[in-house]
Amino acid sequence: MTDHASFSTLLGRNRAIPVVTFATVDDAVPVGRALLEGGVGVIEVTLRTPAGLEALRRLKTECPDMVLGAGTILTPAQAEAAVAAGARFLVSPGHTATLVDCAKAIGVPWMLGATTLSEVMHLRKHGFMVQKFFPAEPAGGLAVLKAIGSVLPDVRFCPTGGISASKAKDYLALSNIIAVGGSWFVPSSGIDLQAVAEAARQAAASLNSAA
Ligand code: 3PG
Repeated sequence: MTDHASFSTLLGRNRAIPVVTFATVDDAVPVGRALLEGGVGVIEVTLRTPAGLEALRRLKTECPDMVLGAGTILTPAQAEAAVAAGARFLVSPGHTATLVDCAKAIGVPWMLGATTLSEVMHLRKHGFMVQKFFPAEPAGGLAVLKAIGSVLPDVRFCPTGGISASKAKDYLALSNIIAVGGSWFVPSSGIDLQAVAEAARQAAASLNSAA
């Protein structure tokens, strides 16, 4: 299940979640260390590449202070493998009946994805009070999240998809946003560890909750 309190506790002060797709496993620990150095203590490793699961395992060992999440979970088998590899939360871009059943049983917070009011209501009915809103910008972004908040204020969202460092602040200003996610920390075009640490410093300074 996914309630606000357990997810907030897990995130601590972090309110911006770097969503990272590793092309090679060897990038995982340097990126994790650069994020931690900048003050960001959470990462969502997507399972879109074969490197994803091993990246989680290495981060668990080498960056034990980092809150590890696994993203792009499409099947129960991926969810189980991700938890076994060290993921403490799971993220899916959407949801299926199978994933809903699995998420109810698995015992770690899982943000299933929704974009429309009917999808949000469906997940809410099953007890998922924290949902991924994806793809945030193409799906209407701030205006849609505000409208959903006016009718279902008890559901919190983590929007991702097209969110930049500068837009993140506006999303976090909405009362129904628990966190934002994005690949802006580690762009797919290539890894520059100094840029990763600097993006983390900026997020820690301007987006994270106060101590
Ligand atoms: C995700 O998996 O949440 C998205 O790929 C992140 O979206 P972005 O690359 O547009 O930030």
